[in-house]
Amino acid sequence: ANKIRVICGDILDFVDDPAVAGDKAYRYFEQGALVIQDGKVADLGFERDILPSLALAYPDQLIDTKRYTGRLIIPGMIDTHIHLPQTEMIGAYGEQLLTWLTEYAFPTEKKFADEDYARQVSQRFIDELLRNGTTSALVFGTVHPQSVNAFFSEAQQRKLRMIAGKVMMDRNCPEDLSDCPESSYQDSKALIEKWHNVDRLSYAVTPRFAPTSSPEQLAKCTQLLEEYPDVYLHTHLSENKDECAWVKELFPESEDYLGVYEDAGLVRRRSVFAHSIHLAERELDCLAKTQASVSHCSTSNLFLGSGLFNLKACEKRGIHVGMGTDVGAGTSFSMLQTGNEAYKIQQLQGEKFSAFKGLYLATLGGARALDLEGTIGNFNTGCEADFVVLDYQATPFLSFRLKEAKTLHERLFAIMMLGDDRCIEATYILGEKAYKRDGQPQFKPTL
Ligand code: GUN
Ligand code: FE
Repeated sequence: ANKIRVICGDILDFVDDPAVAGDKAYRYFEQGALVIQDGKVADLGFERDILPSLALAYPDQLIDTKRYTGRLIIPGMIDTHIHLPQTEMIGAYGEQLLTWLTEYAFPTEKKFADEDYARQVSQRFIDELLRNGTTSALVFGTVHPQSVNAFFSEAQQRKLRMIAGKVMMDRNCPEDLSDCPESSYQDSKALIEKWHNVDRLSYAVTPRFAPTSSPEQLAKCTQLLEEYPDVYLHTHLSENKDECAWVKELFPESEDYLGVYEDAGLVRRRSVFAHSIHLAERELDCLAKTQASVSHCSTSNLFLGSGLFNLKACEKRGIHVGMGTDVGAGTSFSMLQTGNEAYKIQQLQGEKFSAFKGLYLATLGGARALDLEGTIGNFNTGCEADFVVLDYQATPFLSFRLKEAKTLHERLFAIMMLGDDRCIEATYILGEKAYKRDGQPQFKPTL
């Protein structure tokens, strides 16, 4: 028989949305144990229940126990919208979306014509995801197929569950970043054939956004979705007011921004729309009815001055929402920091955003938005054992602040407000350690 791995610590995961199920949305096992066999979750519970029953069922030498005393163990975090090629340009100064794209994003993306370069950035990018406790992501490449080849090769080697796609854009962009309807179709098709459903990888058909695709190209996207019904559709929607006005000019026939994608036949389950800020009731209703998903990108929305995401309107309709960093318009790879900014966006609208909500969105909510519930996102039996070990003592100030935290929510909220990559002590992929923070602890724990 294969070895059984037992991870002991304080374990938290979600079985539902706190907005729907309240306190029943999460499970918390203080001094819990997570049992892993063949890279999948085999059991979850209190250490005092799990260990004796395992000892009865298996000989000692088959059980490998790892203890993270006083640490918080959560499912691997899921980033539902991020741009691989924008890794090196985070924090580009001074502009809102449309100027930011032409001044900063497009010039950086041109470098991915070089596959070697794409490979180097892919390695750094994946290192950074794991350092931040992110184990799965929905990823924009560039227009170059080699961006996706480089990324998937690296993700495959590390056994990661990842979704990515080559950008499709055939207008309103630089000549050397432009494809055409036919070439974008052929290139995407070849990538789907090569990578989709290989190991833990999936493909996303990725038109950049309505302004950079002709109606002919959007029709090619639809053709791909028809030929490969389980691939994803990944694009941007209603992020910035000038962008929305431009879409209205470019597509006068469509009722609204989402209507452009809808008229093309692109709005369905497994379609993920980043931002989705300035939406009419009709668009929200359409997202709900079609079971499409939204990626809320808090740090990006504040950084580019895009607007305030209406989470409540999505919750009311049961729209699937995940969180995305949207690096490089987003300013952090950390899903904790993304939750921190999401909290502030809700505050500006007079709404609450608990740490439970933030951690739900970063885990099970993300899995639901990517139609992967049952595969990743929580510790249900049979789920892939991607998880993160969080350290409450990661920084002197966090440790000091937590002395005053009495309840679980206070502790989680402090970690969401003050935590970042420094709190990620270890990241596990399929039950194996894939990242370990070094030089720890940095000071004497006070808890
Ligand atoms: N809309 C179209 N392209 C982009 C992009 O690269 N980043 C963001 N934030 N919005 C976009
Ligand atoms: Fe984006």
